[in-house]
Amino acid sequence: MRIEVAKPYLDEQEQKAVADVVASGWISQGPKVAEFEKIFADYVGAQYSVATTSCTTALHAALAVSGIGPGDEVIVPSLSFIATANSVVHCGATSVFVDINPETCNMDINKIEAALTKKTKAIMPVHQMGLPVDIDSINAIAQKHNLIVIEDAACAIGSEYKGKRIGGHGNTACFSFHPRKVITTGEGGMITTNNSEVAERLRRFRHHGMSVSDLERHTSQKIIIESYPEIGYNYRMTDMQAAMGIVQMKKLPDILRIRRAIAGKYNNAFSKISCLRVPEVPEYVQHNYQSYWVELLDNAPVNRNELMQRLLEKGISSRRGVMAIHREPCYSRHNAILLLTERITENTIILPLYPSMADDEVRHVIDNVRNILC
Ligand SMILES: Cc1ncc(COP(=O)(O)O)c(C=O)c1O
Repeated sequence: MRIEVAKPYLDEQEQKAVADVVASGWISQGPKVAEFEKIFADYVGAQYSVATTSCTTALHAALAVSGIGPGDEVIVPSLSFIATANSVVHCGATSVFVDINPETCNMDINKIEAALTKKTKAIMPVHQMGLPVDIDSINAIAQKHNLIVIEDAACAIGSEYKGKRIGGHGNTACFSFHPRKVITTGEGGMITTNNSEVAERLRRFRHHGMSVSDLERHTSQKIIIESYPEIGYNYRMTDMQAAMGIVQMKKLPDILRIRRAIAGKYNNAFSKISCLRVPEVPEYVQHNYQSYWVELLDNAPVNRNELMQRLLEKGISSRRGVMAIHREPCYSRHNAILLLTERITENTIILPLYPSMADDEVRHVIDNVRNILC
């Protein structure tokens, strides 16, 4: 038996949708992207959404149109994928790392204010592995200090905070459609916002700063001569990707139901193993379990890497827990000391979880983890 850590949930529906776009002749950003954006915005409860090539480009665009630039500081967790901090650097600004709450693996709200300086312009919380951060508390700090909030919601499609889906809380939020995420378009990203001016600027930013879209020009009965009011990038999603995304959105309720059911089985089994700690889910959130992690405690008979190796020998892929960005060579000059981030990055393991995972595969993972640790 070979069990991957993640698998996209694709079938002939996505194949047909992409083939139909190819047959239509309009393969770059066009009507399918517009349709995907509308479906996504309605789903999360935001007024606008803007598709991009990835979450990384979405974060860069969102920061840039919010005016973040050289000399500015942005508060981010170090326990995240490196793209979170890189997107700040792409704007010429500086990432300031804050430690986490080890219960949730999200940024510790109580440590944000100590990290603020006169240069701080924004807070970029991450809904790590799909578990929502305490958005109300972050928004309250931001309001008090006049800061922008841009949510890194790469992993959080379908997760809810206080009964509302992530992306619908009034901030700008950025999502990823990489194949390891909850739904996929191969590569791709989406920005949601309730601010019409931000949405308009994002549409220009992803399209070379051009004043009109290709679709507008194509469908106009009158000639349109475009202009370039500001510098932009090519961050456009293709219609082939968007067609795949539209099919994936239809599957999303099933995907979430299955992910939560498998996570429930894992929680049930692993909470009985004394050397493991399972994820803590605050009662006001709904987790999408984009990734499922456990922490190995001091009484474990093997360390995290040994556990990963022993699982691999049984045909089970796993991944180390989320990285600590401040420990990577390209961020080492920050000299940050973040003890909880370091503990979690060293002792957590991400286990297989994907919607097409069969019951006997789930059982195989549970049995092997138990055999190695008990
Ligand atoms: C928290 C977080 N932010 C940003 C990204 C970057 O997403 P993308 O691969 O779509 O650029 C990822 C991807 O793993 C992520 O986990």
